[in-house]
Amino acid sequence: MIDRKAFRTLSSGLYLISARVGDKVCGCVVNTLVQVASEPATLAVSLNKENATTASILESGRFAAVVLSQDAPMELIGTFGFHTSADTDKFALCEHAEDGTHIPYVTEHGLARFSVAVTETVDVGSHYLFVGVVEEAEVLSAGDPLTYAYYHAVKGGKTPPKAATYNGGDEAAPASVEATAAGEAATGKKIAWRCTICGFIEEGYPDGLPADYMCPICGATRDMFERIEL
Ligand SMILES: Cc1cc2nc3c(=O)[nH]c(=O)nc-3n(C[C@H](O)[C@H](O)[C@H](O)COP(=O)(O)O)c2cc1C
Repeated sequence: MIDRKAFRTLSSGLYLISARVGDKVCGCVVNTLVQVASEPATLAVSLNKENATTASILESGRFAAVVLSQDAPMELIGTFGFHTSADTDKFALCEHAEDGTHIPYVTEHGLARFSVAVTETVDVGSHYLFVGVVEEAEVLSAGDPLTYAYYHAVKGGKTPPKAATYNGGDEAAPASVEATAAGEAATGKKIAWRCTICGFIEEGYPDGLPADYMCPICGATRDMFERIEL
């Protein structure tokens, strides 16, 4: 018997992993970064075989990692966790710096950063587990780390199918997207729509979002939006 609910009790943080091959930079959100040895200081991360970041690490043998703080905005997570670097320069959209090997890492909402040289790549099915020795480690700012539990419970975040911990999309469905202009008039408040994936707020459709609407931040479809009043 496998009860998928059992996996939800595993705890972790949220991190940004980045890599570079030539001028091409890639990065994505993960919740699977973990320290697996102290001497030498060693990190491991599990990355989906279809991620652009995975291909970049396979080719370069290196990655950088940033520990996200609890105040990391959903837009940042939406950009790095729901878009592919194959067609987006994610770093053009946020503050960043480069490590000693010119891999970019996000500096906004980061508590610490690491640079890792991969020593072992393990094929674990849908994902590769990259294990590597830490060559640079630096504290970026003070604050609380963003945990996976906080991301779900407080920020209302979702998990995309490529995440190592995706368990079939069994999270609570978002609220209905139906609304009326009458509702807006009745309350005197402005009706808007919040993307339950990345937090983007769309204003200006009091009668409901168009059927073919897509979130400009994370690409979520209309049914992933919930009605809010501003
Ligand atoms: C909360 C969260 C956790 C995630 N965890 C992982 C993970 O551990 N491993 C992984 O491969 N992808 C994970 N993802 C999905 C990737 O971030 C996502 O597929 C991303 O778009 C890949 O970008 P890339 O193609 O530029 O590499 C996660 C996404 C979110 C939002």
